[in-house]
Amino acid sequence: TKDRNGTDQILLQNPRGASARVSLHGGQVLSWRTDRGEELLFTSSKAILKPPYAVRGGIPICFPQFGQRGSLEQHGFARNRTWIIDENPPPLHPNDNNGKAFIDLLLKPLEDDLKIWPHSFEFRLRVYLTADGNLSLISRIRNINCKPFSFSIAYHTYFSISDISEVRVEGLETLDYLDNLCQRERFTEQGDALTFESEVDRVYLGSRDVIAIFDHERKRAFFIRKEGLPDVGVWNPWVKKSKAIVDFGDEEYKQMLCVNGAAVEKPITLKTGEEWTGRLELSVVPSS
Ligand code: BG6
Repeated sequence: TKDRNGTDQILLQNPRGASARVSLHGGQVLSWRTDRGEELLFTSSKAILKPPYAVRGGIPICFPQFGQRGSLEQHGFARNRTWIIDENPPPLHPNDNNGKAFIDLLLKPLEDDLKIWPHSFEFRLRVYLTADGNLSLISRIRNINCKPFSFSIAYHTYFSISDISEVRVEGLETLDYLDNLCQRERFTEQGDALTFESEVDRVYLGSRDVIAIFDHERKRAFFIRKEGLPDVGVWNPWVKKSKAIVDFGDEEYKQMLCVNGAAVEKPITLKTGEEWTGRLELSVVPSS
């Protein structure tokens, strides 16, 4: 079912009672819960819930730029804009009329956006809660401009974790990464799995399509399945950076980890009329 909460948030629920909440501000997923009501995404207790900026938590969409790799504001403008609901979206699957636990949001550039990024586009974001309670995010970006354009994109996913010292990320071993803490210098991952004992701000390049975050204390694992998103941003601000972020608690770095399906190193180029699709599907399973 689809239930509108006020004018700017949408609650999605599947028949078993799992849920997701999406805000029109930024097209940002703000909550994803299991059928037992357990929240799976982190949101800061200091988050500022009012526009114009993205909420510190959930899944802000970084588009058309990731980080500071370009002339736009950090992470692009899409996360700070108001998206609209497509009241008449294409069906979930051909012949499907049961799958109602989804919403399609649309973003088109405003006049001011065209001044700083002169490319007309239509961004369709489908947020879909599967029958199993997985959270699926499908982006379709179309060039409706008369010239080609290029962009980068990331689903900046704030996972809720028990304790940063207790988690392990698998699926990034042996990959090259760009380290934001060293002027984006390129390194190669040496460890078997990623663990955390200081600030991390990296983009792993050309990863496989499944990444896992094991949370030993909570005995569960998140799986991130992605298509069209070759790179993975990994971010934890740790002690010093946390203190410098106004909408983030000093100790909250312990309870969050960002692992972001992304296309960053090689921007995506679309010719006039072309469309790009990128998918992310998040699931959570018990693990030892
Ligand atoms: C990460 C970047 O993805 O996002 C970091 O790699 C940045 O450098 C972080 O600090 C948070 O960014 P923002 O703009 O949401 O504060």
